[in-house]
Amino acid sequence: MSTVIRGGTIVTADLSYEADLLIEDGRIAAIGQGLVGDSVLNASGCYVMPGGIDPHTHLEMPFMGTYSADDFESGTRAALAGGTTMVVDFALPSPGQGLLDALQMWDNKAGRAHCDYSYHMAVTWWGEQVFDEMQAVVDRGITSFKHFMAYKGALMVNDDELFASFRRVGDLGGIAMVHAENGDVVAELSARLLAEGNTGPEAHAYSRPPQVEGEATNRAIMVADMAGVPLYVVHVSCEDSHEAIRRARAQGKRVWGEPLIQHLVLDESEYFNADWDHAARRVMSPPFRNKAHQDSLWAGLQSGSLSVVATDHCAFTTEQKRTGREDFTKIPNGTGGLEDRMPVLWTKGVGSGRLTPNEFVAATSTNIAKILGMYPQKGAVLVGSDADLVIWDPEAEKTITADAQQSAIDYNVFEGVQVKGLPRHVLTRGVVAVRDGRMLGAEGHGRFVARQPRGQVNRALSQWKSLTAPRPVQRGGIPASGV
Ligand code: URP
Ligand code: ZN
Ligand code: ZN
Ligand code: ZN
Repeated sequence: MSTVIRGGTIVTADLSYEADLLIEDGRIAAIGQGLVGDSVLNASGCYVMPGGIDPHTHLEMPFMGTYSADDFESGTRAALAGGTTMVVDFALPSPGQGLLDALQMWDNKAGRAHCDYSYHMAVTWWGEQVFDEMQAVVDRGITSFKHFMAYKGALMVNDDELFASFRRVGDLGGIAMVHAENGDVVAELSARLLAEGNTGPEAHAYSRPPQVEGEATNRAIMVADMAGVPLYVVHVSCEDSHEAIRRARAQGKRVWGEPLIQHLVLDESEYFNADWDHAARRVMSPPFRNKAHQDSLWAGLQSGSLSVVATDHCAFTTEQKRTGREDFTKIPNGTGGLEDRMPVLWTKGVGSGRLTPNEFVAATSTNIAKILGMYPQKGAVLVGSDADLVIWDPEAEKTITADAQQSAIDYNVFEGVQVKGLPRHVLTRGVVAVRDGRMLGAEGHGRFVARQPRGQVNRALSQWKSLTAPRPVQRGGIPASGV
């Protein structure tokens, strides 16, 4: 069975042009005029773009005494409904658990995925077993390793562990990732706030000011530079962290920053809502910031100092959030966004003139495919690429509501947001998952995507680091003393 996508404008990270697409065996077989196939998808008036890649999700993740509510089934169904055709989820060993053991757990869960997926591996503790197993993880095609500088007493690693792990990642040709917040300061501020009677969700924001994120980002950049490894900073929420990344990049360091759609659009006033549930549903780390920080993130996307827009989709029901009724530190951290990232970024970005359609494709798909070593299999409209495609109708409109969403939770942080620009059809490796805006089931269709280590950036950085490494000064010998 072949499919032709007819009459659309192909939009990639660097070009827009009118052409048809022929899809065979899950891949793009031809791009041109007047192509014929067994079935036809009408793309007139639409953009044909690489499907979105969300590089930051937590599906069915054990966290803060519970599990995130969207699993690989509902999570990837939500992804496809919004034009995202691949997710990269975090395999998360509990402290003391082996990496391969955690991978097995994630493989067991991911079998239900509707779209393709990959994993990052989290380094939540440090020891010989972790060091040893990292090689096998890379051999399986998982080349990015995430480190938490926050969540003290749970997932956080200290600087010595960070440095040791970063060096190992560098030697294996991988990419180091960080959740950058100063976990020691957050823990102290949280304890003090609670003691002073600040128990509500607004105290979550008070306990994690932009400074703690800026400091940790600077520290991670320094440690990555010493270790000679490329660094990817997840959920960059503020100017303090963006400034550190911008400066590092201007110095030639290999650092990427990932803002979330939530931080680009929602602000800290959410935490001051009189309704406890409203505020708690928006508790995530880092918290939402003010308008000045939002402007900084948009400017970063425009100027190229920030590279990728993700969701950090980690959804909890209202009931789960209420675990923290008496104590904000017990509110499970995380928000959803998988279904909404593409339409909201299109509406607020392309619809406002802050982003071009080509920049939209770069930020939602192509850049991360390149960074993570899976381009042009993913993130491209090229002959031979996987037919992960979204046929995007720039005139289609809707109001976001929890009632109409795919996610398993009972609310949506974007409730009431009006979007213009929605998927008409979505294809995952050539299989139509959304037709004329309606979901078709494809549970279990998703496949694991193995990624390549030692990409161009790794090789260039290693070359530079070995060229500039400290070397002993060659001397003719030291005269014996007293002679
Ligand atoms: O609050 C958040 N972001 N929850 C998910 C886990 C993480 O820190 O990424
Ligand atoms: Zn995080
Ligand atoms: Zn996360
Ligand atoms: Zn299939």
